[in-house]
Amino acid sequence: MRTSSKLKTSLRAALALYAVAMASANATDTTDDYPQQPAIVNYTTSEAGNPFVDGWYADPDTAIYQGVYWVFPTSSYVYDQQTYLDAFSSPDLVHWTKHANILTTKDVTWATKAVWAPAPAFRNGKYFIYFGANDIQEGEPEQGFIGGIGVAVADNPQGPYVDALGKPLIGAYNNSAQPIDQDVFIDDDGQAYIYYGGHGHANVAKLKEDMISFDTFEDGTTFKEITPRDYAEGPQILKRNGKYYLMWSEGGWTGPDYQVSYAVADSPLGPFLGVSGTTILQQDSAVAKGSGHNGVIHVPGTDIYYIVYHRRPLSENAGEHRVLCYDRMYFNEDGSIKPIKMLVKDHFTDGDMVGWKVYPEGSEPEGAHVVDNKLEVKSRSKSGTIVALDTNFTDQLYDATVILSNSSNDFGTSAGLVFGVKNVPSVPYKTKGYYAGLSTAGRVFIMNLGDGTSTLVEGVDIKPDIEHHIRVSAIGANISVFVDDLTWPRLTLDGSNHAAGMNGVAVFNMEAKFGNVSIAEAS
Ligand SMILES: *[C@@H]1O[C@H](CO)[C@@H](O)[C@H](O)[C@H]1NC(C)=O
Ligand SMILES: *[C@@H]1O[C@H](CO)[C@@H](O)[C@H](O)[C@H]1NC(C)=O
Ligand SMILES: *[C@@H]1O[C@H](CO)[C@@H](O)[C@H](O)[C@H]1NC(C)=O
Ligand SMILES: *[C@@H]1O[C@H](CO)[C@@H](O)[C@H](O)[C@H]1NC(C)=O
Ligand SMILES: *[C@@H]1O[C@H](CO)[C@@H](O)[C@H](O)[C@H]1NC(C)=O
Ligand SMILES: *[C@@H]1O[C@H](CO)[C@@H](O)[C@H](O)[C@H]1NC(C)=O
Repeated sequence: MRTSSKLKTSLRAALALYAVAMASANATDTTDDYPQQPAIVNYTTSEAGNPFVDGWYADPDTAIYQGVYWVFPTSSYVYDQQTYLDAFSSPDLVHWTKHANILTTKDVTWATKAVWAPAPAFRNGKYFIYFGANDIQEGEPEQGFIGGIGVAVADNPQGPYVDALGKPLIGAYNNSAQPIDQDVFIDDDGQAYIYYGGHGHANVAKLKEDMISFDTFEDGTTFKEITPRDYAEGPQILKRNGKYYLMWSEGGWTGPDYQVSYAVADSPLGPFLGVSGTTILQQDSAVAKGSGHNGVIHVPGTDIYYIVYHRRPLSENAGEHRVLCYDRMYFNEDGSIKPIKMLVKDHFTDGDMVGWKVYPEGSEPEGAHVVDNKLEVKSRSKSGTIVALDTNFTDQLYDATVILSNSSNDFGTSAGLVFGVKNVPSVPYKTKGYYAGLSTAGRVFIMNLGDGTSTLVEGVDIKPDIEHHIRVSAIGANISVFVDDLTWPRLTLDGSNHAAGMNGVAVFNMEAKFGNVSIAEAS
């Protein structure tokens, strides 16, 4: 059946009226990029787990639109598949909604590949995405290759975005800067700037009020070089207390030395050229590698900042296997940024277990699921199930809550925490590492899974269906386990041979629920 053209016309009229209403609603807000105050979120890290969304993504940048937090990343599958952008939105930085394909090469006539590092901006009721495309190399524009930094515009944060120019906004190398990795910033006086540049050079340019054309500097130039020392790519500007913080990535994007540094200036133009940065985010052999290319979330009206970045899980070696994470960014009294600690926590309130893997791999006998903010693990066998994070801590403080499901005196029925775990074989109890187990028979024990030695204490008040706090402290030769009472350990084992490895939860022949996981380096 065809819709009558009359009905279509009135529908269109209604939609047009709605669009006008939306546009004028937005127009009244154009002096303020935050028409609605977002939730004030005060976390130490992504407490529902890093990575905070599933999938391979990189180069995140952020925005707050109508009280909602947005993250715009590069899709980090193999090079040939980097042809589309997804976005993520969240009211609280915990629960995320994925908006797939907000912009793809199909929407941009001149773009074929390498759609990278989206940078969001909002002005005059319009949402902009600045993106790199085609990965052009020095000399190629002169040979007729088209590529560089494009700009797309939409009426909503989630798109659909349409190419605003039909060609790149920046389609050539200037000052040896590859036209990629853009960041757009609107200063308090209304002047918009674009910072960008790969291949070790960074430029800044002034955008006109229309956001799709350039103003020149007083000396008549459009692009001003601002390359700090050791700069590789990924510039990000942040204004705080009247100071301009330029953050950037150093090192090679696939390598272990990828890291974030920053420098501060009194002007959006620097001086940054040749300035040495202070490194604030680096890989950590216990948590992840290749951490870099950051965005920043500032919770409006507060002094709460988060650094949003990508990193590579420890066991991943493919360059594009990058994941999205955030951690809290703290400032010192003098305005300098404290080194960022990548924390490992998961309280499962996002309803997912991204970053956790079930062992033995591929078996997933009864599985592991998040139910009511708890990681529920079922194991029907005495060879057990381990669900682990891709961590590599040696000395550590490992906390979690656990609820045991059933009563049993059986020695093979228990649940608890594993650490220092390596290469889980098909029989988890034969893995290398340590297991701190609890049983409803009132037993607490620590077992060296490598050689089967253990130490045990009986008569501890452990009941089924009651939440118990379990803490493992492994420092040097001293491995101690606390249950509920955190002032003194229930037992201590000589762990002089304990080594780095994964953290996880383990369940043997029962069902258990885990919550509030936190693993921190200890020394
Ligand atoms: C954030 O939480 C910490 C401790 O949980 C508290 O000391 C601090 O005042 C809070 N900050 C804000 C801005 O709410
Ligand atoms: C710098 O950029 C402009 C505008 O995109 C371009 O016309 C010009 O050729 C570039 N200069 C150099 C030296 O590449
Ligand atoms: C794990 O940590 C150990 C000790 O710190 C280190 O030697 C090893 O390289 C780390 N492994 C990974 C994959 O980072
Ligand atoms: C081992 O560590 C625990 C917890 O920090 C502490 O209570 C205990 O005294 C230590 N034991 C030894 C022998 O150092
Ligand atoms: C404990 O619970 C598991 C999983 O529900 C079940 O398979 C097992 O038989 C139970 N064990 C006892 C001793 O009740
Ligand atoms: C677990 O974490 C949640 C959310 O942070 C908190 O509200 C709750 O008190 C914690 N529970 C325990 C037992 O630590």
